[in-house]
Amino acid sequence: DMGGHDTYMHKEIHEQADAVDRALRGRIDDRFSTVHLGGLNLDARDARAVRRVKILGCGTSYHAGQIGAQMIEELARIPADAEPASEFRYRNPVVDPDTLYIAVSQSGETYDVLAAVQELKRKGARVLGLVNVVGSAIARETDGGIYVHAGPEVCVVSTKCFTNMVVSFGLLALHLGRTRDLSVADGKRIIEGLRKLPGQIEEILANEAQIEELAKEYAEAKSMMFIGRVRGYPVAREASLKLKEVSYIHAEAYPASELKHGPLALIEPAMPTVAIVPDDELLEKNRAALEEIKARSGRILAVAHREQEKADHTIVVPKNEDELDAILMGIPLQLFAYYTAKAMGRDIDKPRNLAKSVTVE
Ligand code: F6R
Repeated sequence: DMGGHDTYMHKEIHEQADAVDRALRGRIDDRFSTVHLGGLNLDARDARAVRRVKILGCGTSYHAGQIGAQMIEELARIPADAEPASEFRYRNPVVDPDTLYIAVSQSGETYDVLAAVQELKRKGARVLGLVNVVGSAIARETDGGIYVHAGPEVCVVSTKCFTNMVVSFGLLALHLGRTRDLSVADGKRIIEGLRKLPGQIEEILANEAQIEELAKEYAEAKSMMFIGRVRGYPVAREASLKLKEVSYIHAEAYPASELKHGPLALIEPAMPTVAIVPDDELLEKNRAALEEIKARSGRILAVAHREQEKADHTIVVPKNEDELDAILMGIPLQLFAYYTAKAMGRDIDKPRNLAKSVTVE
């Protein structure tokens, strides 16, 4: 039942405020400015013994993991990174007992992720799951974890589950941070930021008409560039994937800082750029990248916390805490992908060649 929406993708994009609310419910501890994650099976002593975090997932879940790794580094100051599960399992990885491994999956059935978990367990590693489907294979094989509580996701491409994964990583990062050196004041600040998310998601979705107009305009492009820096880079990668999947427009994502090392050669009026431009300590750097693109007559659509002069269009999103902004900045670009695909008459819920869960190698 699509409840009045024309596709599950549209419905699921619009369910995100409720989904995030569900992910937060019952988990926030105001007294100690932290969160409780019941199924984690990681006591404070275990949490403090973690020297490194390695996040494994595929596709959109891998992108959620990239944002998660940054949040864990920022809030808990534990070195963290994300890697596609398939790459990890084929390269005979060094498995380290002081590393906390986290498997991220919507379905909990993705074969490459499951195989990575099994290989890690065989080598004695501690593996947590960050999973949507309760009781799924990955949820069962891991030592504990966090359910992301996005609810059923029917559209082949992931939207609300991505957002809830990133929120869940925010909770985990806060929890790990508060067992270490994150102050009570910073814990409070992050909790306030988390609580603002559902309302801010509603604000973004209320801007749908502008995004629809922009999507119609940009749907004529043969190819698009997506750029971001640090917190904005995984957002750019996920937005680029979403556009490719549902519209079949070719899209590439690059760190804004890498433009001058090659991809700037592609910039011309027919190759628009979508730029993620948060109001954080890198704002001026990002503006400089917009100038470089403008100087090559490139068209720019910015997703930012305020109008960007160098951009042809800006989608303004509400500001949260710097560490949490990545949760929100991708949401208008889910709608952008949706409306681009719609303008092109694509089969949005079932893109060609793709399956909802990839249970084969
Ligand atoms: C993209 C998408 C895929 C999945 C990937 C992993 O929109 O849906 O990239 O994210 O196949 O699937 P899960 O999360 O079920 O392991």
